[in-house]
Amino acid sequence: MNELTGMEVRGDGVAIITIDNPPVNALAAGVREAILERVRDAAADERVLAIVLAGQGSTFAAGADIKAFDAIGTREASIDRSTRMHRLLAGIEDSGKPIVAAIRGAALGGGLELAMACHCRVVSPDAKLGQPEVTLGLIPGAGGTQRLPRLVPPDVAVTMCVEGKPLDARAALAAGLVDRIADDGLLDTASRIARELAASDSWRVTRAIEIDPARAAEGLRAIEGRRARLQARPGAMAAQRALDALQAAYTEPFDRGAARERELFADCVLSAESRALRHLFFAERAAARPPGLPAGTPTLDIKSAAVVGAGTMGIGIAMCYASSGIPVLLNDVSRDALRKALDTISANYRSSVAKGRITQAQADLALSLIEITTSYDAFHHVDIVVEAAFEDLDLKRQIFAALGAATRPECILASNTSTLDVDALAEASGRPSQVVGHHFFSPANVMRLLEVVRGRATSDTVLATSLAIGRRIGKVCAVVGNGFGFVANRMLAYYMREAYLLLEEGASVGQIDRVLVEFGMPVGPFAMQDIAGIDVGARIRQHLAKLGKTRADGPQSEVPDRLFDLGRYGQKTQAGWYRYEKGSRTPIPDPLIDGIAAAAAARRGITRRNAIPDAEIVARVTTALANEGARVLEERFASRAGDIDVIYCHGFGFPHYRGGPMFYAETIGLDTVLARVREYRARFGDYWRPAGLLERLVASGGSLYAPDAVPAAPAVS
Ligand code: 3HC
Repeated sequence: MNELTGMEVRGDGVAIITIDNPPVNALAAGVREAILERVRDAAADERVLAIVLAGQGSTFAAGADIKAFDAIGTREASIDRSTRMHRLLAGIEDSGKPIVAAIRGAALGGGLELAMACHCRVVSPDAKLGQPEVTLGLIPGAGGTQRLPRLVPPDVAVTMCVEGKPLDARAALAAGLVDRIADDGLLDTASRIARELAASDSWRVTRAIEIDPARAAEGLRAIEGRRARLQARPGAMAAQRALDALQAAYTEPFDRGAARERELFADCVLSAESRALRHLFFAERAAARPPGLPAGTPTLDIKSAAVVGAGTMGIGIAMCYASSGIPVLLNDVSRDALRKALDTISANYRSSVAKGRITQAQADLALSLIEITTSYDAFHHVDIVVEAAFEDLDLKRQIFAALGAATRPECILASNTSTLDVDALAEASGRPSQVVGHHFFSPANVMRLLEVVRGRATSDTVLATSLAIGRRIGKVCAVVGNGFGFVANRMLAYYMREAYLLLEEGASVGQIDRVLVEFGMPVGPFAMQDIAGIDVGARIRQHLAKLGKTRADGPQSEVPDRLFDLGRYGQKTQAGWYRYEKGSRTPIPDPLIDGIAAAAAARRGITRRNAIPDAEIVARVTTALANEGARVLEERFASRAGDIDVIYCHGFGFPHYRGGPMFYAETIGLDTVLARVREYRARFGDYWRPAGLLERLVASGGSLYAPDAVPAAPAVS
């Protein structure tokens, strides 16, 4: 018999079927067939009165095998696959004996669809039930859009399919998605209920439930409400298709609704958006496994932390630790700064409670875990220190020397530097193997990216622990080499260079921001700088100028420095690239900028153009990103193109449904990207140098994602 499932017939007449496809019981084709085979065997077995379906390990089932979607090449193949899934679930529903799903952990996507085809659902308190397909650019494809509305109220069905967030056990019980929470003895409770159902000789077949007209009307209203909100959002194709499928559930009989779902699923699975989102799903997980770090490398147990520097970044980092239940000492030389930091942290938690993101109890607990201090006296207790002091190498060197003396030898010393040399800090600490970069993005308690910077001497254990703690505090981690700006900020410099130059050539701040928001960025480059602070970049440029360096090759626009000279730092001074009314964050275009850009263009001898096409703006910035990304790869500051995608999507909001700057480059064609680089070189000058890797891949017809695209080696300085 198959090895992907197990079956045990107990003395009480209950057959326990177990899905056994580690690590998450993904429902690959063989698994689905194996389940049906077991159900048929149990149905035919006279000893069996009822069936319980459970998952081996800590997960019920994480859904269809996401990798397998890449093999679907045509609509017909997709519809054929979905039809088989639908038949299989109908086979379970019609087995003739009651089947109870016993759900521990995740029942997601196809996993929940399978559970909904069972006649009853019993869950453990840690269960998570959801239809996250939309996060992969898909819709539920095995009847989820048809069975869910038959079990839960319309607003829940719509929210689950459009937002993709799972329900916890209590919410699922309240919504009617599950029938019982078993505080302990999940299998025993499920078995008891299964026997009761068998004895009663009546159990509910989800697809046979009639949706009454009042609920159907409510469903249609909920759908229309959502549609209006989705209209303006780029990349919302899957969410729209999910609404179409739900609409069919509220207006058509089950079989017709299911057929509609299959059609809509086929649209999605073949879409560029879904391919991109599926790519990112696996790239995020691969990024946590850098080449060169042996699997199973031991990690240190992080029970307490300290953060040095109570500025914006320090505050956000301290919140990350406290919100994850890790006690944290927040250190600063200024008592006043520490008091203000605590006020800000309290206000942030209050706002999260008000928005319903966390409960008051969670906020209270997190706040109680933060202790302020002006000394390093208690640092010998902590397992990790994250330094988030002012970006000044000498200051940071002093701090690392002091930390080396104040902490235990095994304590990890991490720097949140965004540009400075991690090896120099390692040397100052006196124990370089414990030093690593932990580059958070602002606001650190919100942005999901953590660049883990591996220094020359960083030990494997410190690297592995960094990845583990990053994950624990809710970050998506990528390991990068120790080069100026690491990966994210290095690439950002090229993105910004093109934005500045386009401005000088005649595009407006408003046009560039609008075009890039339409492309899918959450905010345009200039509005983003007004949030982050124009002074931050200006100070980095000043520091580099002293060293005779620049952030990006090519002409350095003087425009941002003029704004800095004028004290226009962005939202915080009510003026930057835009103007802001007091107390408002609404950007107001300011004609002054065009005057500054025109003067800068005149000084550089640039003839301004009357109109710059929107398409050129997108092409220029995305080509700059892809070309620089290719250089990052060939210089080994990142190990894989997918790592760069993860970094730019999570660090700067590159549209996830475009898969990241490197995936986007492959989508439009590396030859197109290279042709653009060459065209720009001819038009603008030699600073548009094609990356050697790009030229090689185009010449050989290769891919950035081929295993041998870049010679395998750890990202090291
Ligand atoms: N298919 C294939 N592989 C999967 C998978 C899936 N559905 N879900 C997880 N995996 C893999 C991961 O890639 C990872 O592999 P790796 O070790 O080689 O990197 C491994 O399982 C463990 O995954 P995580 O690192 O994510 O483990 P966590 O414990 O952090 O999270 C989880 C577990 C919450 C289940 C998370 O993996 C998850 O969210 N999975 C995806 C759920 C999902 O989106 N399901 C819908 C699939 S589409 C579908 O079902 C269509 C249907 O309607 C027809």
